[in-house]
Amino acid sequence: MLLSYLRDRLRLTGTKYGCGGGGCGACTVMVSRYQPGTKTILHYSANACLLPVCQLQGAAVTTVEGIGSTKTRVHPVQERIARAHGSQCGFCTPGMVMSMYTLLRNTPQPTMEDIREALGGNLCRCTGYRPIVDGFRTFCQVEIFTTNLHSHGVYCMKQISSFQGSSFYCPACVFQGLPPQLFDQGDLLPLDPTQELIFPPELITEPQMSQRFIGENIVWISPVSLDELIQLKADHPQAPLVIGNTNIGPDIKFKGALHPIIISPTRVQELFAVTRTAQGVYIGAGCSLSVVKALLEGLVQELPEEKTEIYRALLQQLGNVGGQQIRNVASIGGNIVSAYPNSDLNPVLAAGSCKLSVVSKGGRKEILLNKDFLVGFGKTSLKPDEIVLSVFIPVSRKWEFMGALRQAPRKENALATVTSGIRVMFTEGSSVVKELSICYGGVGPCTVSASRTCAAIIGRPWNEQTLSEAYTVLLDEISLSPSHPGGKVDFRRSLTLSLLFKFNLQILHKLWEMVRTGSLLPVVNGQSVDDQVGRPVMHHSAISQATGEAVYCDDIPKTDGELHLVLVTSTRPHAKIRGIDVTEALQVPGVVDVITSKDIPGKKFRTFTGVDEELLAENEVSCVGQMVCAVIADTREQAKRGAAVVKIHYEDLPEPVFTVEEAMEKKSYFQPQRTIERGNVTQAFEEVDQVYEGEIRLGGQEHFYMETQSMVVVPSGEDRELRVYLSCQHPTYAQESIAETLGIPSNRVSCHVKRVGGAFGGKVTKTSAIACITSVAAWRSGRAVRCVLERGEDMLITGARHPVLGRYKVGFMNDGKIIAADLHYYANSGNTADESVLKVLLHLDNAYNVPNLRGHSVACKTNLPSNTAFRGFGVPQSMLVTENMINDVAMKLGRNAEEIREINMYKEVSLTHYKFQFDPKNLLRCWDECKEKSDYDSRRQAAGEFNQKNRWKKRGLAVIPIKYGIAFSEGFLNQAASLVHIYKDGSVLVSHGGTEMGQGIHTKMQQVASRELHIPTSFIHITETSTSAVPNTCPSAASFGTDANGMAVKNACETLYRRLEPVRKQNPTGTWESWVKKAFLQKISLSATGYYRGHDLYMDWEKQEGQPYAYFTYGACCSEVEVDCLSGDYRTVRTDIVTDIGRSINPSVDIGQIEGSFIQGLGLYTMEELQFSPSGVLLTRGPSQYKIPAICDIPLQFNVYLLSDSDNPHAIYSSKGIGEPVLFLGSSVFFAIKDAVAAARAEAGMDGPFTLDSPATPERTCLACNTDFTQKIPPSRPGSFKPWALNIP
Ligand SMILES: Cc1cc2nc3c(=O)[nH]c(=O)nc-3n(C[C@H](O)[C@H](O)[C@H](O)COP(=O)(O)OP(=O)(O)OC[C@H]3O[C@@H](n4cnc5c(N)ncnc54)[C@H](O)[C@@H]3O)c2cc1C
Ligand code: FES
Ligand code: FES
Repeated sequence: MLLSYLRDRLRLTGTKYGCGGGGCGACTVMVSRYQPGTKTILHYSANACLLPVCQLQGAAVTTVEGIGSTKTRVHPVQERIARAHGSQCGFCTPGMVMSMYTLLRNTPQPTMEDIREALGGNLCRCTGYRPIVDGFRTFCQVEIFTTNLHSHGVYCMKQISSFQGSSFYCPACVFQGLPPQLFDQGDLLPLDPTQELIFPPELITEPQMSQRFIGENIVWISPVSLDELIQLKADHPQAPLVIGNTNIGPDIKFKGALHPIIISPTRVQELFAVTRTAQGVYIGAGCSLSVVKALLEGLVQELPEEKTEIYRALLQQLGNVGGQQIRNVASIGGNIVSAYPNSDLNPVLAAGSCKLSVVSKGGRKEILLNKDFLVGFGKTSLKPDEIVLSVFIPVSRKWEFMGALRQAPRKENALATVTSGIRVMFTEGSSVVKELSICYGGVGPCTVSASRTCAAIIGRPWNEQTLSEAYTVLLDEISLSPSHPGGKVDFRRSLTLSLLFKFNLQILHKLWEMVRTGSLLPVVNGQSVDDQVGRPVMHHSAISQATGEAVYCDDIPKTDGELHLVLVTSTRPHAKIRGIDVTEALQVPGVVDVITSKDIPGKKFRTFTGVDEELLAENEVSCVGQMVCAVIADTREQAKRGAAVVKIHYEDLPEPVFTVEEAMEKKSYFQPQRTIERGNVTQAFEEVDQVYEGEIRLGGQEHFYMETQSMVVVPSGEDRELRVYLSCQHPTYAQESIAETLGIPSNRVSCHVKRVGGAFGGKVTKTSAIACITSVAAWRSGRAVRCVLERGEDMLITGARHPVLGRYKVGFMNDGKIIAADLHYYANSGNTADESVLKVLLHLDNAYNVPNLRGHSVACKTNLPSNTAFRGFGVPQSMLVTENMINDVAMKLGRNAEEIREINMYKEVSLTHYKFQFDPKNLLRCWDECKEKSDYDSRRQAAGEFNQKNRWKKRGLAVIPIKYGIAFSEGFLNQAASLVHIYKDGSVLVSHGGTEMGQGIHTKMQQVASRELHIPTSFIHITETSTSAVPNTCPSAASFGTDANGMAVKNACETLYRRLEPVRKQNPTGTWESWVKKAFLQKISLSATGYYRGHDLYMDWEKQEGQPYAYFTYGACCSEVEVDCLSGDYRTVRTDIVTDIGRSINPSVDIGQIEGSFIQGLGLYTMEELQFSPSGVLLTRGPSQYKIPAICDIPLQFNVYLLSDSDNPHAIYSSKGIGEPVLFLGSSVFFAIKDAVAAARAEAGMDGPFTLDSPATPERTCLACNTDFTQKIPPSRPGSFKPWALNIP
């Protein structure tokens, strides 16, 4: 594929690997081709991971390196994403840049819709997308800017137009109450399309000759004429025709499909021809979906509306198929012939009576695209030698209407759960149905036609009576086994009904203009408040991230003789290992070694929280995905081949445990179990007005850092030294673990972290374990070894956030005061303890003063992959349970949850349940400001009115507070060190213990050093985090990195500045450089270490009291959603966040953390769903199955405010830690959804508490709404079938 060719052969490492399957956009490049037909150049974005190099004959490929660099000239696209703070960890940035660059090549002045569409296929896990959009919107034609120079000397640009209501922040404006913005647009590099690279003239040719590329395993044939193609297909009927490679590519890569011969017909002109007739249009089967979309858009513009029903329905679907990069290459013929069960196009084409022109040696014929053509999973009635030449799409007739409705786990770039095409033709002038065709995807092995239902409607008037009878037939006709692949069976069945009903609403609208549901709220710009301590300094390596020059672990050039390591993992959830046979693996060409536990020279275990965990399983495996051995080979491909033939003989052990309920039954727990109690809970329950018991289940969350686990271990060749380059949050732990594993002292191992492409807690323990294994390989071979996990391996092996089951009993008075609460948390830890003793119990009070409060937490040992730390470390799970409990109390009392929250909030200086004193003043300020700024009261009223008027759409609101403890509860972790050198030319090198993971710590450290040394940041450089420079560091975690390392850097700089005092006094008017030079001549040391001995925090679980935090970060968030009760889809209409982060050192970095964290929380609570098969196999192993928020998920209006006048004596420059706290505020969307569902249920006569587990996916939301349609689905009897997926926790 082009991606490995670019990265490995050409050493162009700016293009990144994120998933290898077209799902993330990290590998986006621009492809340009000469179009002989129109004699124009076509530029399109594409995923390099799916682009076969053989197919690029005649094409020019532009990568991020090609458009600009710091050595020549940075391109405006690169500059703007960097300056707008749209690059945090930077791993997604080159892909974003290339998507935007391609858009500008085609449309130099795009609209916001163009930008949204162009970026729809690019994922970012850090930023929350807002700053990326902010940077790119500066290219829009409609943007109008005014420049203000405020009294404090900072330029600020006020933006007048807006995209989806995103807000802007400029600390400079806040004084004057102006809408602020975070970056200066005054001197942006202008976009000059005339300066772009030209298309190489030598590539302006017409295809002449067919070509053959003969590889190791594949022969690639590219014909130029239709006759040749037909002959080739006759000679090699089993050879696939590869056009976009978006089906065949993933099949080869992920399913191991073998195709010795591939035919690539991309140069056969007939496959791309478009012919129009009065009856419709013939579209060449090779046309990409983007080309089809553009063509249909043109026809819709040109033709009378009544003729374009089918075209508009197709356009509706085309906008949702994959991301832009996929649509640019995927062909319409490929989509049809692939016959996916949930193809979006086939139901519409089939319902729309479309036809296919098919050619072969036997001649040419036309066949209807219907159920006789789509015969099974991935199967059509095409004969192996037949080729689809074109697709005929007819114009619609008067009184004919077409609908295309779908429901998917994410609004865009996600395969549909259920998708449909419905066409109805009425007898002229009446509502009597003459023709009807209903086709569904997602409810069977292929596109399904509901012909019995159609027959039940045809000839009858289209009205409620007819339809309600039709629903019964439909329910009977489209039945799914409860074990159907993909699960969600009840939801799918109810969707078949509700999508038909939605079509009905459209038809009624068209026929009689009768139903109008409310529109979304208007978009209004918000404001944010900022303090004046820090400046919005750009991320220190944003530009090199945007130009692709930033070096991530796998970008490090290969050393001579370097080997690759691939892990072999368990396929059994619980079994004895009876033998590992590596004979065949060792015979695979290129394979050098296979490492098993026996080959580890030192400690075979690693210990993190006092519990030993095996590096490689020796005698027993306890989950699918557990590391058993590792294959080392010259190339990654060879290592993969070797890994595939390692034979592990298992003897299954009985009854593996997967869920927390099973663990509870078997008392399968890790220690310690913890309990905490304040007051007398048991007695208090006796004295309250009401008692309620409830529970909520919260699923896990995959870290989905964009850069997968990566490392290179290089033996130095002498003194048993190893240099380890890795992407991790805790280099010291990796160093210690590797030393122990090899049985050598730590001083022989140096770990180096330049930057991390996202981590979120997932690159502490798991990275170290894999680094240990890689080091054993390097140790044994004496050669450098590289291990970079593929996305699927990473998701399988490295665990996730702990799923939790929370149960509670709450006692309250009729006025809403909660008197007693007893909460139990059961975390699904997986097969090892790892970091499973979470901060659950310390945060169960969140913002509430419940006088009698008891918590009990248990880490359940199960046979799933071991879970690990994830941003928030148990707090997001713990608080969700508490807030759900409050919600239930509100529902029991028939009041708004916000009232109950206010009644129970801490109001004055108080003690927490672990006797830690704090002042909740700023918590209450955040709450009040949030309600005020979000205009909560009037919007709550408006939502009520909206809900009364709308039957199938409901709005909901929620305001959620947070009180989040900062620093490590284990006192010894609250320390940090630094090393600062001043060189003779005045330049300064700062080293500290924090790792740069996108959170901007290096930028903040530069700012600290700049302030302390009184020099501009341009003098200061931070090269990497290294255990050789700063030893014995603590993990970059717990939102404490800046607090700790900032103080250590400050300390070193203060020392140096003091040392320079004599020379400064001697020459007060001198420059920095002159003082430094002088100091050297006077033999003053220009190097200093800094140290910070942080807070002595502790938690005494025996006494149930402690001082586990240095201070609290506070916040509040109001979100409003609109829920479609028929499909469960929701849209976040508006979010307002107020946070107290003290005096921010760098507001742009902190706001980036707030937004990114909130969006990650939104993902956790509303969409990200890890699924395991009944035998414990992780089913969601890539972006195609596991949906993280994309650009379409950011709230329509998103306002972030920083609380003003907040001081914090406990941290550097009065700032506060912010990396983790805001994640929980994403739950405001969850509770807003719950509020909307409650409104829907109330209309159906159901009041009081109800269960909605997290994530509140469309499936759960729709089923919870309990509409007429979901009620029709008879529930499957538990135990009577094997479900497709387990209900974890
Ligand atoms: C990340 C991602 C997201 C996606 N999202 C969606 C989605 O939301 N909805 C949806 O419907 N689809 C989706 N798809 C599927 C995508 O639309 C199809 O894979 C694509 O249209 C197939 O076209 P292709 O040219 O890439 O096919 P290829 O992979 O090149 O070929 C696929 C198959 O079609 C056959 N074939 C191709 N052309 C012809 C022809 N002219 N005659 C006979 N046989 C032919 C080939 O022999 C081969 O077997 C997604 C795919 C990816 C990778
Ligand atoms: S790496 Fe190509 S799309 Fe993810
Ligand atoms: S900045 Fe986008 S993934 Fe990190």
